[in-house]
Amino acid sequence: MISKKVAEALNAQINKELYSSYLYLAMAAYCKAEGLGGFAKWMGVQAGEERGHAMKLYGYLEDQGAKVLLGAIAAPPSDFGSARRVFEETLAHEQLITASIHALVDLAVKEKDYATQGMLQWFVNEQVEEESTAAEVVAKLKMVGGDARGIFMVDRELGARAG
Ligand code: FEO
Repeated sequence: MISKKVAEALNAQINKELYSSYLYLAMAAYCKAEGLGGFAKWMGVQAGEERGHAMKLYGYLEDQGAKVLLGAIAAPPSDFGSARRVFEETLAHEQLITASIHALVDLAVKEKDYATQGMLQWFVNEQVEEESTAAEVVAKLKMVGGDARGIFMVDRELGARAG
């Protein structure tokens, strides 16, 4: 059994993960409209992964006998300015999510909730991966600048993401 405080914080994290999914879906729509099918594919796969993160927390709350409470999901932006901005915003968003996961770990430690600490370790590791991937794409897009051929190549690479 987990405390009410931990259950509330995990429910709030479900909302953040679902917002992440929604945000990446909005980015996918923006990229598609800009003719960047590879970027759109990558963002679509990412949106699916975020839903998976939400479901991991959902399942954990169920396993712990806590009630899942779903709140409203905020509307994401629809215009991101450029392909580079899309990934700069992805990186900034993932940094916020990392901070949120770390705050959850802090709470679980404070509550002496060992099971939740163990469950959250997966998210801690996942965030390292997520930030690193986004930072890598931002670096590539900085290198490419406004060169259409470079953007085309990054688009092709991103479009190869399995999912
Ligand atoms: Fe669910 Fe991208 O963190």
